[in-house]
Amino acid sequence: MLAFASISRTRPRVRLGMRAVDIIRKKRDAGELTPEEIQFLVRGATDDSISDYQLAAWLMAVVWRGMTRLELAALTEAMLHSGEVLDLSDVSGTKVDKHSTGGVGDKTSLVVAPVVAAGGLHVPMISGRGLGHSGGTLDKLESIRGFNVNLSLTDFRRVLKQCGCALIGQTPQIAPADKKLYSLRDVTATVESPYLICASIMSKKLAEGIDALVLDVKTGDGAFMKREEDAVYLAELMVETGQRMGKKIVALITDMDQPLGRKVGNALEVEECIDVLAGGGPDDLRELCLDLSAWMFVLGGKSKRVAEGRILAAELIASGAARDKFREIIRLQGGDAGVVDDPSRLPHAKNKAAAITMQEGYVTAIRCEQVGVASMLLGGGRAKKEDSIDPAVGIVLEKKVGDHVLAGSVLCTIHYNSDERKSEALGLLADSFVIGPAAPSAKPLVRKVIGADGPA
Ligand code: URA
Repeated sequence: MLAFASISRTRPRVRLGMRAVDIIRKKRDAGELTPEEIQFLVRGATDDSISDYQLAAWLMAVVWRGMTRLELAALTEAMLHSGEVLDLSDVSGTKVDKHSTGGVGDKTSLVVAPVVAAGGLHVPMISGRGLGHSGGTLDKLESIRGFNVNLSLTDFRRVLKQCGCALIGQTPQIAPADKKLYSLRDVTATVESPYLICASIMSKKLAEGIDALVLDVKTGDGAFMKREEDAVYLAELMVETGQRMGKKIVALITDMDQPLGRKVGNALEVEECIDVLAGGGPDDLRELCLDLSAWMFVLGGKSKRVAEGRILAAELIASGAARDKFREIIRLQGGDAGVVDDPSRLPHAKNKAAAITMQEGYVTAIRCEQVGVASMLLGGGRAKKEDSIDPAVGIVLEKKVGDHVLAGSVLCTIHYNSDERKSEALGLLADSFVIGPAAPSAKPLVRKVIGADGPA
């Protein structure tokens, strides 16, 4: 004891610089990190001066301890400024984007972007790839022959100015800290923190140089946020973050308890979007696209109310203006615009097989995540980020929740190129449809709107 005392008395009082280990310990013990400490970690993630194991330890501490609003604001801003923040002030008019937290058959960007650009707003959209059971806009677009999602930021601006919309992937210049942190979260079971999700999504979206953002926060079996209260909490964090940064922002909490539309898989989903742009397509997909477009028109100042925005979106589809815009976007990004008039030009799988039920009754639920996993097994998605995908494969749902089935009814059809995991996928799909004696009551597609000032 005496020895310790004399050691501590004689230890020189050196001022240590900031150390990752101290910050990790502070968060582990439920302390609140200062903005400087968070900036230190984010800088370390960006320039690799902090080791992966220390960053991963801090991420896990955040999963357990959460973050205060001050910490979340500091994290989002540090991640946003870890790279380039686009200045689109030379692009006239309002710049508005839409972001979905992801799901199965969730393909609205391919309809909403051309509709809103056709309505006169600018849509600078930086999207992601599919991972696990959920799909990604970039993979869908790449099923169109020649479509280049890897435009430089200079070309991104050029296309945006020329036609009002450009759709690309995250470039190395945009929020590089997120790229590093997300890759660590992916392999350390630290994705599912509302604070980390909020900072990750909002840092990338705010870097796009937008004025307004509509968030589609999915809830249900096929979503990140399975429980509605978790989706609402995440939506509130993102709306608060956007408002603090001076953006107009709303979040729609929408259903992901069954796949959106009837098609799951990359080229199949593009085909379904082309149907919606031609005035057809499944009701749920069309309805959600009209709602999301309407909110973008409201935030972008084109419509006073959502109902008015829906009418504008429907008119842009009916007149063919949205379809023309989609052709223009595809052409300017190097793709085969002929697919809009002739979807048979999209890749098609060689084989089809049906999943059949032996029960009679009503579809009471569809295990949505399993449907996404089945699509991944067929080659339509990635188990790991490095996996390649087959754009042609996927699933067409013949039945959805509420539909009546007889013994022998086809529930869904798989489109496949390889026999390797066909039986596994079919088994998973047959198990995904829950059949009961009565039709369930219909649930609303849009469960809540967060961030709207009043009834819109
Ligand atoms: N999508 C993102 O971009 N980041 C997350 O953390 C989760 C989903």
